Amino acid sequence: MRVAMIGTGYVGLVSGTCFSDFGHHVTCIDKDVGKIERLNRGEIPIYEPGLDDLVRRNVEAGRLDFATDLTQAVKEAEVVFIAVGTPSRRGDGHADLSYVHAAAREIAQVAEGFTVVVTKSTVPVGTGTDLEHIIREAAPEADIAVVSNPEFLREGAAIEDFKRPDRVVIGTTDPRAREVMAALYRPLSLNAAPILFTERNTSELIKYASNAFLAMKITFINEMADLCEKVGGNVQEVARGIGLDGRIGSKFLHAGPGYGGSCFPKDTLALMRTAQEAGSPVRLIETVTTVNETRKAAMGRKVLEALDVPPRGATVAVLGLTFKPNTDDMRDSPAINIVQSLVDRGVTVRAYDPEGMHEARKVLPPSVIYTSGAYECAEGADCLVIVTEWDAFRALDLDRLKSVLKSPTVVDLRNIYPPVDLISRGFKYTGIGRGH
Ligand code: UGA
Repeated sequence: MRVAMIGTGYVGLVSGTCFSDFGHHVTCIDKDVGKIERLNRGEIPIYEPGLDDLVRRNVEAGRLDFATDLTQAVKEAEVVFIAVGTPSRRGDGHADLSYVHAAAREIAQVAEGFTVVVTKSTVPVGTGTDLEHIIREAAPEADIAVVSNPEFLREGAAIEDFKRPDRVVIGTTDPRAREVMAALYRPLSLNAAPILFTERNTSELIKYASNAFLAMKITFINEMADLCEKVGGNVQEVARGIGLDGRIGSKFLHAGPGYGGSCFPKDTLALMRTAQEAGSPVRLIETVTTVNETRKAAMGRKVLEALDVPPRGATVAVLGLTFKPNTDDMRDSPAINIVQSLVDRGVTVRAYDPEGMHEARKVLPPSVIYTSGAYECAEGADCLVIVTEWDAFRALDLDRLKSVLKSPTVVDLRNIYPPVDLISRGFKYTGIGRGH
């Protein structure tokens, strides 16, 4: 099949590449000339494990190409995906749909023959209906069906999530569009992935409900962690104990410094706004977002409390800056709040992240000292804080670490070390939700 993917951000590039790997012919389109030039040279603008090889393989096979103008690719395509950004609109938290609307208008003007236009971007319920109106206005004769097909890719594991999804959700009641979408995803049936066909509004809502539910699950276990610290208890065992109940499930129960990233904060906010305006507020999610913000702010205080010296003049080493491992993404990372609150109290911050330092420089205070590895980062510090659970930090040489730190204090905000391993070596150790 012929596919056009509008937008080569994270979602568009991963999805387009994976569709081409299924054997479809995909053109990825972006208005950013520099980005398309880089992609044509084989340079991948984001860090995602395995993506560079997959792009190269499919470009070489002649199934994947890149363009700045959508005309040719859309004319030839049976399916056109809209995968452009939907950032939070300044002021009201609604998703900003201006890029989505503009893309729909352009597609309508050039599409030929029956064309399925699919929203891959995360869009509020009702967007598909709006796009239909926009398309009808722009090109009354165009034979176009608008379908919702949300993505459930995790950064850092996106290729695996695309190829072996828990489910694919497709929102359409148009029989021709359904047939096209079923053919597009047919290669997945080999992996027995369930494909859920539903009505378009429901599909749009499933995306927000999924992310909001996951954000709620994380926030729940984070509050249990706080409780464990107060009353005694081990949050990891609580998570295991409840997660073995199939009705609860074991995933997304890792307590930590609060969720971040480009999706949960933005999508929970957009869902809240939609629900408030519909007169049916999602109060649980309103609480979740407040609790998560409060938590991120509290993590800096946790580090300050662990210090044996006054903050002014102290040095803290921060390992991991990105909102999660295997990405260079700093958006809404808890590290931003933590570093800022330390710097505000006069602490010197040394930092290291395997992939995120380029992005970190754009958002962290300029006084942060960037280092080239975990031990160099820890050099002379009064405290070491693990903010992101990169694999590279999971098996540090603890004796070496102790010898380079000025004071052997570790705050492990991801619980990647068993406390006994550090305490037995003379470290002062603080984890999350491991009370006694
Ligand atoms: C999330 C969803 O997991 C994807 O299904 C969805 O497609 C994506 O948003 C999106 O809407 O595009 P992502 O933001 O890449 O994916 O990352 P997650 O792995 O979900 O992690 C989000 C945040 O929650 C991170 O800050 C992570 O550290 C935190 N987290 C996650 C926890 O604190 N504990 C957990 O148990 C899991």
